[in-house]
Amino acid sequence: MIDFSLRTEHPHNTKTDAVAVAVHEGQKLSWAAEELDRASKGALSAALKTASFSCRVGAVLPLLNVAGVSAPRVYVYGAGASSALSAKDARATGKAIASCANEHSVGEVAVFALSEGAVDAMTQMVLGATDAVYRFDETKGAASKAKAEKPSLKRVRFGMPEGTKDAAKALKVAVASAAGIAFTKHLGNLPGNHCTPTRLGDEAKKLGKSHGLKVTVMDRKQIEKLGMGSFLSVTNGSDEPPRFIVMEYAGGKKGEAPTVFVGKGITFDTGGISLKPAAEMDHMKWDMSGAGTVFGVMRAVGEIKPKQNIVGIVAACENMPSGRATKPGDVFTSMSGQTIEVLNTDAEGRLILCDALTYAERFKPKAVIDIATLTGACVVALGSVNAGLFSSNDKLADDILASGKKMNDRFWRMPLEEDYQEALNSNFADMANVAGREGGAITAACFLWRFAKKYPWAHLDIAGVAYKGSGKEKGATGRPVAALVDYVMANE
Ligand code: BES
Ligand code: MN
Ligand code: ZN
Repeated sequence: MIDFSLRTEHPHNTKTDAVAVAVHEGQKLSWAAEELDRASKGALSAALKTASFSCRVGAVLPLLNVAGVSAPRVYVYGAGASSALSAKDARATGKAIASCANEHSVGEVAVFALSEGAVDAMTQMVLGATDAVYRFDETKGAASKAKAEKPSLKRVRFGMPEGTKDAAKALKVAVASAAGIAFTKHLGNLPGNHCTPTRLGDEAKKLGKSHGLKVTVMDRKQIEKLGMGSFLSVTNGSDEPPRFIVMEYAGGKKGEAPTVFVGKGITFDTGGISLKPAAEMDHMKWDMSGAGTVFGVMRAVGEIKPKQNIVGIVAACENMPSGRATKPGDVFTSMSGQTIEVLNTDAEGRLILCDALTYAERFKPKAVIDIATLTGACVVALGSVNAGLFSSNDKLADDILASGKKMNDRFWRMPLEEDYQEALNSNFADMANVAGREGGAITAACFLWRFAKKYPWAHLDIAGVAYKGSGKEKGATGRPVAALVDYVMANE
């Protein structure tokens, strides 16, 4: 993790390895670039001209030994046409500056923000720079670990325009979010044979110790005692013992209603007896990304210490075929007492979440938000830009949408309406676990809704946004940790 902080020197006399200042299209200098240009007696603007620097967002022009500037390097970063950077552009800029620093073996950069939207841009730059130095190597061999280039960038100092308010608080939140995202990505990228339900339970205990959370990890016996017949039906085919994990952060008054996050923690989804096709089945190691999000958010919360009560719940197990596995047509009784006919064992996410949603009732929550890689149908509907948002409460939905927009970690609200419920009718139980192919993301949400009637509730289907499935960037994204941390902080 990069060490981020604020600093107050002027750009030209900042003692660091590189100072980064913004220039807009038309080579219009930001306040910090102007200060450097004055100190260098016009050398900066002259260099920009010679380089015919585009000033496009994401472009960085490195200059060496600029006269009158203490730092040996000046990074001019493109700030585009508008006066403030959008969340997306600021994130890309942070990533570009950090990548540039790594290329030059630079250890510390002082980044000077634009005068408009400086605090929000700083937040995004923290996320972008952290992303640039993220490496996954837990499952690489010793030789490739030794050979791998280590990112040089260790420290980023932010220079804010004069009169900026609340920068320290925003930085603390941003840094906690960034570390939460990295944690979520790490858990997601671990393969199924490493990231087992047992490992998730151990990670929760570790997190509890390091971040001041009360953690309860329940095993099969305790889950049976709670009557979670639906959750346990998914574990029947697996030799990996399940875990039901509860992480409690108490920053609010005793007895104050908490916000509860519930994560789908399928550590590998083969589909069970309704087996998935072989192609890209490795993606199903990311089927615990909802749980990973809960871990990331709880880590951030434990670091920020808001004055609220917040609970993270994770239902973790594997979905495997075997002689003991659940068969299509089997009927189980959920913790709520409602019975479920399992017509497709690959619709397992809802089967574990429904019992977790019932469990959440005991906290008398002010809101429950579940996060799950729930349906391929959601990927078809929304692609990888927006996650699906379903909610029984307009205020909750609007708040989540707003945080998603602000952080460019976006959601699109989908319908949650009684008319879709009919498709889940069963002749042999209170409901079936699947409807037809039509509106698959919606009927999945409707299934969960039947277990979430006692509190304001939102369901986030992150199947399309939690990971990139191919290419150089193949891996977990850490979404939507940033949006959910912002949602929590908007409640402060
Ligand atoms: N984990 C999958 C959903 C998924 C699909 C996540 C693609 C990420 C990428 C989920 O358990 C599943 O298999 N859902 C089924 C539901 C169907 C059987 C009703 C699906 O989407 O095909
Ligand atoms: Mn499945
Ligand atoms: Zn699944």
